[in-house]
Amino acid sequence: MPEFFSRASPILSIQDLSCSYVSRSFGLLGKREIKPVLSHINMDIAFGGIFGLTGESGCGKSTLARCILGLIDYEGEIVIDGQKREERGPLSHRLQLARKVQMVFQDSGASLNPAKRIGWLMEEALRIHRIGSPPERERKTDDMLVRVGLDPSYKKRRVNELSSGQKQRVCVGRALLLEPKLLIADEAISSLDVSVGAQILNLFRELHNDLGLSILFISHNTDAAEYLCDSIAVMEDGRIAAYGAPTGPA
Ligand SMILES: Nc1ncnc2c1ncn2[C@@H]1O[C@H](COP(=O)(O)OP(=O)(O)O)[C@@H](O)[C@H]1O
Ligand SMILES: [Mg+2]
Repeated sequence: MPEFFSRASPILSIQDLSCSYVSRSFGLLGKREIKPVLSHINMDIAFGGIFGLTGESGCGKSTLARCILGLIDYEGEIVIDGQKREERGPLSHRLQLARKVQMVFQDSGASLNPAKRIGWLMEEALRIHRIGSPPERERKTDDMLVRVGLDPSYKKRRVNELSSGQKQRVCVGRALLLEPKLLIADEAISSLDVSVGAQILNLFRELHNDLGLSILFISHNTDAAEYLCDSIAVMEDGRIAAYGAPTGPA
């Protein structure tokens, strides 16, 4: 068993997190409107765990993902791999955290630049973080394409030459090239056909089994979360209404 699983501390710990969106009616001089979205969320994801977050559309799931990624302000505490997220912490600290948590979204096609080839798109994050020499980056990309169920020849293709499931595999591979500790999948199968979605769920399970990857699987699809996850939280109107283990197939 990888050392990963024996870690007692959680990969992600959220304590008493609340978050509101602020908007102004009629421009800068308008009244400030504060819309509370998340209130007093507590949640832990174990090292090597697959945690499901379900709930109806609009209840605040994606907002919680944005808080975890440090994209919006919140009250409360988020600790990733023992490291507290600080809103105005040093850049090096924030970059370190940025590598630890990666995300895949619902509309994968939209996050891939259609003008570039798949190899270029996969290597982009490695170039930004200055990881490896060009040949090393190419080798890592080849290995990752195989790991996500494609083959190295795909790096020469462009986005419009891939099916929606293949695009999602590229997005998962691109996220994993940075070797994150936690992958957040936000509605990552929601725009896919049922059979393609099931293949992506199986890919998540393989990555979890083979790499010990921790996953936060966000979906309004309770059946998919029950199939994939080892623990589940149900969100209702910005609060966690229930925690539990999946009940398993009926
Ligand atoms: N940028 C924003 N500004 C104001 N309100 C927002 C913003 N993004 C989302 N919301 C609102 O916050 C609530 C939660 O949205 P979201 O987190 O996207 O829910 P979910 O992912 O569960 O569908 C919704 O009522 C939504 O309308
Ligand atoms: Mg959402």
